[in-house]
Amino acid sequence: MAKPEYQEDIVVRKNLDFQLDADDIPRYWMAGDAFKTRVFDAVQSTFPDGERYFISAVRAFRDRITDPVLLQAVKDFSMQEGQHGQVHTSYNERLRRQGISIDGFTRHTKEITENRLQTLSAEYNIAMTAALEHFTAMMADLFFAEKDMLEGADSRVRAMFAWHAIEEMEHKAVAFDVMQKVANVGYGLRVTAMTHATLGFSLYTVIAPWHMLKMDGYSTRERLTMYAKGLPWLVGPRKGVLGRLLPMIGSYYKPGFHPNHIPTVHNYRAWLDAFVATGDPMLAADAMHRAAA
Ligand SMILES: [Fe+2]
Ligand SMILES: [Fe+2]
Repeated sequence: MAKPEYQEDIVVRKNLDFQLDADDIPRYWMAGDAFKTRVFDAVQSTFPDGERYFISAVRAFRDRITDPVLLQAVKDFSMQEGQHGQVHTSYNERLRRQGISIDGFTRHTKEITENRLQTLSAEYNIAMTAALEHFTAMMADLFFAEKDMLEGADSRVRAMFAWHAIEEMEHKAVAFDVMQKVANVGYGLRVTAMTHATLGFSLYTVIAPWHMLKMDGYSTRERLTMYAKGLPWLVGPRKGVLGRLLPMIGSYYKPGFHPNHIPTVHNYRAWLDAFVATGDPMLAADAMHRAAA
């Protein structure tokens, strides 16, 4: 029996305002927790360059796409990622105003992604993109399906991540379909790239906040204490972020995996209905949070 398909429309939403330059967003917007805040902040700092990399990796195959539906999806995917890049760039400016040397973080991502585009095959780059897109597609389930993950977060920052998570879920299959149908990447390369992406992403998630917290002025001893307290939340096997992620990453290793076999997060419709009714991504995120389990 064919597996059910879960494919939402890819909607390009432009120039959304999350009031990220508001002075009253707390420095540690994640419920006052410096460690958790800087984990999110450090990961999101990679997004503008990371998303430029995704667009380049997909566009390398654009001339070989004959399916008009996939061609349109690639266009919409690129537009969505372009908007994400703009918003996360303005978020990075917010971090710069806090005294974080954000250029060091963005330079690191830029160097890695440019190096990959120059030295690795187009097939490997689209496989890396499909793997990392699986990570971003999981954001909605990971952080928004249940209330507890982002309880106490500033509503504006949470709204930004909610919008991004929603759109990542909408275009979750685009890079994967280009990889499989156009680049003809097989199982071996697909899972090699996922292993590479998982290790790189996990290491970054643990190491980068350490440097950001140093820029915040925390001593080595203070940071060690924060990590001792925060790591169970980040890498804990059951309730931790990594513990929740592992089964989702594992599904990517099944030979017949396709992103559209993963059900859309249960409160997607709450976000979408509120956004369609009001055009306000803050109200949409509030509706999504209220509908969370
Ligand atoms: Fe994105
Ligand atoms: Fe994406």
